Amino acid sequence: MYKFAEALESIKEKGLYREMLYLDAAPGPHTMVGGKQMLLLSSNNYLGLCNDDRLKEAAIATIREFGVGSGGSRLTTGSYRLHRELEERLAQFKGTEACLVFSTGYAANLGTIAGLADKGWVIFCDRLNHASIIDGCRLSGAKLVIYKHCDMNDLEKKIKRYHTGKGLIVSDGVFSMDGDIAPLAEIVKLAKKYSIMTMVDDAHATGVLGPNGGGSVDYFGLQNEVDIQMGTLSKAFAGEGGYIAGKQSLIDYLRHKAKSFIYSTALAPHNIAVSLKALELIQKEPERRKSLLEKSRWFRGELVKNGFDVPMNNTPIIPLMVGEADKAVTFSRMLYDEGVYVPAIRPPTVPNGSSRLRFSIMATHTHEDLAMALQKTIVIGKELGLI
Ligand SMILES: Cc1ncc(COP(=O)(O)O)c(C=O)c1O
Repeated sequence: MYKFAEALESIKEKGLYREMLYLDAAPGPHTMVGGKQMLLLSSNNYLGLCNDDRLKEAAIATIREFGVGSGGSRLTTGSYRLHRELEERLAQFKGTEACLVFSTGYAANLGTIAGLADKGWVIFCDRLNHASIIDGCRLSGAKLVIYKHCDMNDLEKKIKRYHTGKGLIVSDGVFSMDGDIAPLAEIVKLAKKYSIMTMVDDAHATGVLGPNGGGSVDYFGLQNEVDIQMGTLSKAFAGEGGYIAGKQSLIDYLRHKAKSFIYSTALAPHNIAVSLKALELIQKEPERRKSLLEKSRWFRGELVKNGFDVPMNNTPIIPLMVGEADKAVTFSRMLYDEGVYVPAIRPPTVPNGSSRLRFSIMATHTHEDLAMALQKTIVIGKELGLI
């Protein structure tokens, strides 16, 4: 018999035991976490749309008309005209021919990679890519080749060594725990040189980066170069779901091959209505992402000025590097006691020895919110000997 209790003890000894704190209000800047009023600095609700009245109205009106569930998978009885409309609009937004919506971003990565590649393929995968990408690669049966984080020399070296015929380079656009932007122009260049397909996971960049808010691919103007653009509807889009955008033939192929699409219940119509409204606002209100990036730049800059180990980037994901898991947890608890909620991120989510606090900014944070969080972070950081 597997000894769960012993395994959990060992997890605890390593400082890696995970507790869940429950929210009792919308994930805005000020919310209830674990029964306490908190300044929330760790949500993926980047544009602050989760509690936007227009999105809520869209959901409520759609529930009144369509009910609360889709009632089937997309290929049986779960596809509504709303799904098609969202897929058409997302394709336009991403600058691609077509798009396919999945029930989550995780399902989109998993089903797409496993549906596309098989034993005859080699997948080149950044070391810090999201778990759903890694799982998709493993499930596909393809040879998985991990390259050093954003290291194009290592990628090329490994392409030369392992590329045989069918290949895919896959990278997060913005890395979820580090907040840095992948060197997509260089990735695309290598992909062209060696005739390899490219896939970018823009979960954290969509709605946030790029002149049109289209993500890291839009930021670099590579809409015509990247073969597969993946995204989620659960972060800047404030709802649920994931999608793949690309050529019509790719999307048609995935409809036949991506098992997480085929064998899973379709998103309920109100989720789709929320995403349609979010997309409209992302396109109509660019000031949201501008303000988000300005606030993020300020907060990051202040942490650096005060001596914290924080990498310089221009995204709302701001990792404050701590090192040991225990210390990161202590830092997070002390901030919580002061009314600021920023969870500690530990292995296996990040590599050993790189535990951190992962701040993430929302467009709806005020300057006062951020100044308050900064001041408390500095006081505790000094107490813990980090600065
Ligand atoms: C980079 C990345 N890809 C994919 C996902 C999965 O998306 P979803 O939460 O919609 O399943 C996430 C996070 O949740 C992510 O951070």
